[in-house]
Amino acid sequence: MHTVAIQRRRHGAVTLLLVAAAVVLLSAAAQTAAAHRPRGCGVTSKYVRKHQASEDMPLDADVFAVPPGRNAPQQVHIGLADQTGTSMFVSWVTVEAEGNSTVLYGLAADKLDLAAEGTITRYTYYNYTSGYIHHATLTNLQHGTRYHYAVGVGVGDTVRAFWFTTPPAPGPDVPLRLGLIGDLGQTADSNSTLAHYESHQGDAVLFVGDLSYADKHPLHDNNRWDTWGRFAERSVAYQPWVWTTGNHEVDFAPELGELAPFKPFTHRYPTPWKASQSSEPYWYSVKLGPAHIIVLSSYSAFGKYTPQYKWVEAELKRVDREVTPWLFISTHVPWYNSNNFHYMEGEPMRAQLEKMAVDARVDAVFAGHVHAYERTHRYSNIKYNVTDGKCTPIADRRAPVYVVIGDGGNVEGLADELTWPQPAYSAFREYSFGHAVLDIKNRTHAYYAWYRNHDGNKVTADTMWFTNRYHMPNHDDSMTMITAKAAC
Ligand SMILES: *[C@@H]1O[C@H](CO)[C@@H](O)[C@H](O)[C@H]1NC(C)=O
Ligand SMILES: *[C@@H]1O[C@H](CO)[C@@H](O)[C@H](O)[C@H]1NC(C)=O
Ligand SMILES: *[C@@H]1O[C@H](CO)[C@@H](O)[C@H](O)[C@H]1NC(C)=O
Ligand SMILES: *[C@@H]1O[C@H](CO)[C@@H](O)[C@H](O)[C@H]1NC(C)=O
Ligand SMILES: *[C@@H]1O[C@H](CO)[C@@H](O)[C@H](O)[C@H]1NC(C)=O
Ligand SMILES: [Fe+2]
Repeated sequence: MHTVAIQRRRHGAVTLLLVAAAVVLLSAAAQTAAAHRPRGCGVTSKYVRKHQASEDMPLDADVFAVPPGRNAPQQVHIGLADQTGTSMFVSWVTVEAEGNSTVLYGLAADKLDLAAEGTITRYTYYNYTSGYIHHATLTNLQHGTRYHYAVGVGVGDTVRAFWFTTPPAPGPDVPLRLGLIGDLGQTADSNSTLAHYESHQGDAVLFVGDLSYADKHPLHDNNRWDTWGRFAERSVAYQPWVWTTGNHEVDFAPELGELAPFKPFTHRYPTPWKASQSSEPYWYSVKLGPAHIIVLSSYSAFGKYTPQYKWVEAELKRVDREVTPWLFISTHVPWYNSNNFHYMEGEPMRAQLEKMAVDARVDAVFAGHVHAYERTHRYSNIKYNVTDGKCTPIADRRAPVYVVIGDGGNVEGLADELTWPQPAYSAFREYSFGHAVLDIKNRTHAYYAWYRNHDGNKVTADTMWFTNRYHMPNHDDSMTMITAKAAC
């Protein structure tokens, strides 16, 4: 009996070994096949962008030209100074002399009957000294209204005039078009991305971080912050870009004696953090028409009990989906990404905040950092508690769609190493430069499209109809578009 039992056990073990070997072989075969036809319902685009060197445009490029005239204001940009845009920052730089910090503005180009007095700041970075950076705040603006403004006024300097339209008032059915741009930099590809976006002109841009890449130059050459400011002016002087900070905004360089993180960024690009009850410029929120956008900082503490964590927790409670049905998060480092570049860098923040985002029925999380494009299905991974072994993303209609849009076209080039097989959460991925547009139609529907720079303006490379997680929580929007294209 004993012997037989042992033999049986041995036999069983051999069978198990054989079965295990077969499984290993089969899954190896499946993985080889998967390299060509990904599992799940995702698409890895077959479009392969021809490889080109990414270099910053030369200092004498047309887009960096200093505007002519005595002490002409340059790097003009606007930004939301309160959460809804009844208050706007106007910022610019003068280099020859301080000049006048007043902004004249009004409802017609020839009737600038209002004035906002600004302030001047300067900073040094290693051996660089900035120009005179002016910031003025225009207040008591009406929503959805065109304002004209002029800077460089008053002292015989060159006057430059611009205009912008304030965002629509918060409300559930106001249409809003948001541009989505990330990791822009200042290469010819960056210029192409901006030109493509201009042909789709939104009401505002949600910028997911990494502006100038000045820190890629020796000594973090801050002249490259100035060139970027002049390059971006053609859009940013006319419409607000909602800034998210990325790693290229940190500018922490102890070897240069520069120990204050975000120094160039904070001197140049103000954010409405005070109006958002935040304690730092790097996390805040805005409410544009039907959208409540929460901006997070990947490079500030976000663990439990930190100021940012407590603020997000409180901010999510302040969201009123009856007024702003669309809820978005913008953060630099993606929580979901299937590219070898920056793989899993977003895990700490995902682990801390994902459950909150799912519970709040966030519609989408936009991120950059990875220089490629990816969109996910609605997936979550919030069961995991270390001991239960359930660390697997699962399809979850309550979860946000994650969009990685770090493909603005900067000096570091494309992130061209995908992970295989394509994870089930990944709906569409491609490494090309481009931008996206989110067209919110009403409280239930928003049309989203990603455009690659190599195509004409009308060619959409990836699209999706978003349905709202508050008004249509059970509608399966993230799978339907893809099933037509993918075998799943
Ligand atoms: C800063 O230092 C670098 C390296 O020594 C030098 O090339 C550059 O000209 C200096 N810039 C200024 C403004 O002094
Ligand atoms: C700046 O210009 C405004 C508008 O012309 C004028 O009222 C103001 O006195 C000037 N400020 C200074 C400091 O010159
Ligand atoms: C940048 O793009 C603009 C708009 O398409 C164009 O006018 C300009 O010449 C471009 N500059 C460079 C250096 O590519
Ligand atoms: C983790 O999950 C396991 C299995 O579901 C459960 O038994 C355990 O209580 C959980 N631990 C904590 C700390 O929640
Ligand atoms: C919302 O917009 C979608 C897409 O344009 C449309 O199909 C739907 O009828 C609209 N809903 C309402 C209530 O107007
Ligand atoms: Fe980055």
